[in-house]
Amino acid sequence: MKTQVIRCAKRETSRVTCRKNVLERALPAALAAYGEVFLFTDETVFALYGKKVRAALGDIPVFAMPAGERYKTHETLFALLSAMAEAGLHRTACLVCLGGGVVGDIGGLAASLYMRGIACIQVPTTLLSQVDSSVGGKTAIDFCGVKNLVGAFFQPREVFADPAFFATLPAREVRCGLGEIVKHGALSADIFDALQANRDRLSDLSFLAGIVPANIAFKAGVVRADPTEKGLRKCLNLGHTTAHAFELSDGKLSHGEYVLVGTLFEAEYAKSLEGSDEAYLCALQALCLAVLGGMPSLPDAGEAARAALLDKKNTGKGSVVLTVPFAKGEWRLAELPVAKYAQTLAAIGRKLC
Ligand SMILES: NC(=O)c1ccc[n+]([C@@H]2O[C@H](COP(=O)([O-])OP(=O)(O)OC[C@H]3O[C@@H](n4cnc5c(N)ncnc54)[C@H](O)[C@@H]3O)[C@@H](O)[C@H]2O)c1
Ligand SMILES: [Zn+2]
Repeated sequence: MKTQVIRCAKRETSRVTCRKNVLERALPAALAAYGEVFLFTDETVFALYGKKVRAALGDIPVFAMPAGERYKTHETLFALLSAMAEAGLHRTACLVCLGGGVVGDIGGLAASLYMRGIACIQVPTTLLSQVDSSVGGKTAIDFCGVKNLVGAFFQPREVFADPAFFATLPAREVRCGLGEIVKHGALSADIFDALQANRDRLSDLSFLAGIVPANIAFKAGVVRADPTEKGLRKCLNLGHTTAHAFELSDGKLSHGEYVLVGTLFEAEYAKSLEGSDEAYLCALQALCLAVLGGMPSLPDAGEAARAALLDKKNTGKGSVVLTVPFAKGEWRLAELPVAKYAQTLAAIGRKLC
């Protein structure tokens, strides 16, 4: 068992624990401190783990949303808040979010809003939500066609990451989580070395279970240093500007797959920066391709760049900010005018695709 404590601000402490048998042991023990407990999950996860939840937590109220990003909406948020109000939850209640990043993001936002904030425990069940979304206190819903437009910083009291959930995870969801793990590898030399050393078993459940704590520790360290993304936390956007550009203009791959594509493209761009380590950037690209299983077919890169204008990370001055890999464990911020970014993406697309 490994526990990380993230102290973000006065009285805002989040504890992240990696351990087995979370539903049977750690969760019931942690919930003993609360008068009322409400479970938020999605239908897929509840179909798989509902029986275990009932056996461990008894007849608590449950709200299960339909699974998937397209339900990450204000309608789902308000349906959840209504269910919490109808259950008569008080300020001392705890909301448990059992599921992937969609459940975690909506549930965290609901916990921050209900009675101006009640306790929240995250039990992430996907690889992506364990290594990324459940740690750091970012919550959100998609709104007016823009991803994560409405949200808040709100730290969960606890996060319990149990590798047993990976046993039921579809291969595509594993690849999605690996996208964020490779991103961490592009920022942390230790994670990069572990990925390089295990290139032929990247999707083995035992390898994944072993690498989750290092990823959580890495993200927790960044969040601790910069809880509200004033500086260092921007490193976690590595590969994401280009990933979001393709995600918005194409939408056929998963977020994690686009993160791999974004990292590939931005590594290519970084080769043109003075002092960058080309051999390392090539190795990082090879890692991205190994997880993707080859270069996917992608839409017109110029269109993707224009779509990036809708992204939160553009400066609003006709330019786009990228967090790019640079050398092992090193990254840089680059700001490019949209037209230049479009040309650059198009040229890289012609070279790589
Ligand atoms: N808050 C943050 O810092 C942050 C960071 C990264 C991503 N995100 C958000 O996370 C979301 C993506 O998260 P995700 O990839 O976990 O998606 P998700 O929550 O949609 O889960 C993916 C699918 O896997 C299913 N699933 C979940 N656990 C399972 C299990 N153990 N076995 C079988 N199926 C299971 C779900 O029902 C769903 O169909 C996006 O909305 C993204 O914006 C947030
Ligand atoms: Zn991401």
